[in-house]
Amino acid sequence: MRIGTPLTSSATRVMLLGSGELGKEVIIALQRLGVEVIAVDRYANAPGHQVAHRAYVIDMTDDQALRELVAKERPHLIVPEIEALNTSTLAAIEQQGDTRVIPTVKAVQLTMNREGIRRLAAEDLRLPTSPYAFADSLQSLQSAIDSGIGYPCFIKPTMSSSGKGQSRITGPDEVEAAWNYAATGGRVNQGKVIVEGQIDFDYEITLLTVRAKNAGGAIQTYFCQPIGHLQQKGDYVESWQPQAMAPIALERAQQIAAQVTESLGGLGLFGVELFVKGDDVWFSEVSPRPHDTGMVTMASQRFSQFDLHARAILGLPVNVALAAPGASAVIYGGVESDNLSYEGIEAALAVPESDLRLFGKPESFVRRRMGVALARGKDVKEARLRAKEAAHLVKPVAS
Ligand SMILES: Nc1ncnc2c1ncn2[C@@H]1O[C@H](COP(=O)(O)OP(=O)(O)OP(=O)(O)O)[C@@H](O)[C@H]1O
Ligand SMILES: [Mg+2]
Repeated sequence: MRIGTPLTSSATRVMLLGSGELGKEVIIALQRLGVEVIAVDRYANAPGHQVAHRAYVIDMTDDQALRELVAKERPHLIVPEIEALNTSTLAAIEQQGDTRVIPTVKAVQLTMNREGIRRLAAEDLRLPTSPYAFADSLQSLQSAIDSGIGYPCFIKPTMSSSGKGQSRITGPDEVEAAWNYAATGGRVNQGKVIVEGQIDFDYEITLLTVRAKNAGGAIQTYFCQPIGHLQQKGDYVESWQPQAMAPIALERAQQIAAQVTESLGGLGLFGVELFVKGDDVWFSEVSPRPHDTGMVTMASQRFSQFDLHARAILGLPVNVALAAPGASAVIYGGVESDNLSYEGIEAALAVPESDLRLFGKPESFVRRRMGVALARGKDVKEARLRAKEAAHLVKPVAS
């Protein structure tokens, strides 16, 4: 493995497709290793744009726009950070031979659509999941619920993320509203939803799983300590590491994560979302890239999920060790503004063992994630209290 000098003919070039707060940290990790980074997003001044060698604004679902940019920049690696991409274009680009898509085109294709990944996990790999059905009309949705899914259930557009278009319903009078909401909230309106029976879990985790080369050059699977998290309205608000788990549950979680990630293939870090009740574990979904709940690792691990992703995709060895119990708490915009300021930073950073990431997003909405507070503690409980306190002390104000 060799890394060249950025901005010369020897440069190792990596292109991020999607340059939000997670992409920004991947870019910083790559920059530290001397990689030349090209950041792409659909809007100007995205977080990752602000720390890359070059920044572009294009529609990444547009075949021609994507092809032209890749032809111009000739990246060695393409690292998708979002799901709304033209994956057939990526497949065609990889076919030409000079560019590798991370972790694999197959992984990107299967995970961009809930149907692809769910059928892989439940039907091909036979992993435990919630009961589910797919529906492409209000009528077929109702009959799927009536013929076995039951209530309460979750209705989600097959193409969506971060809880968009998603509802939890408890009875027949809510089905139509959930169908309509899914139709408007989906990223690309495919007119198709997944309906899932509710899993009555004790807690849910993200198991960060890394496929990286070991000292002998073979691909090995590594597991970070499980991350516990709290979701509100389909969006994560708090996460912590390690989440205490029964040994059998942890073993099952690792087995599921190993099977799913091996099937998706390639090199890189994955966020495997699992539900846990006692010793039972259900697969929920997987991101073939760093996960929002994994931001906690910037406080809790020797190497964050972003460092691990950067190393793994470059073919370098990883170290998934925990450094200390840690937690993260989300900072929302709270207001609509295009020139937000943040006050109370002194107070937030005076919380013991705390740290902040302010993403620098150009536009704020009430429920837009604008930053995150991080903290360590002697245990998870102390870390969570500190992270929440630090997040609370940061006051976004419209200038
Ligand atoms: N079948 C289910 N049973 C119980 N809880 C569920 C189920 N499906 C979803 N949830 C709850 O809703 C949350 C969001 O669901 P899911 O991860 O499928 O949506 P998402 O839009 O992909 O969110 P994100 O992109 O933030 O991961 C889950 O983390 C869980 O708390
Ligand atoms: Mg999820």
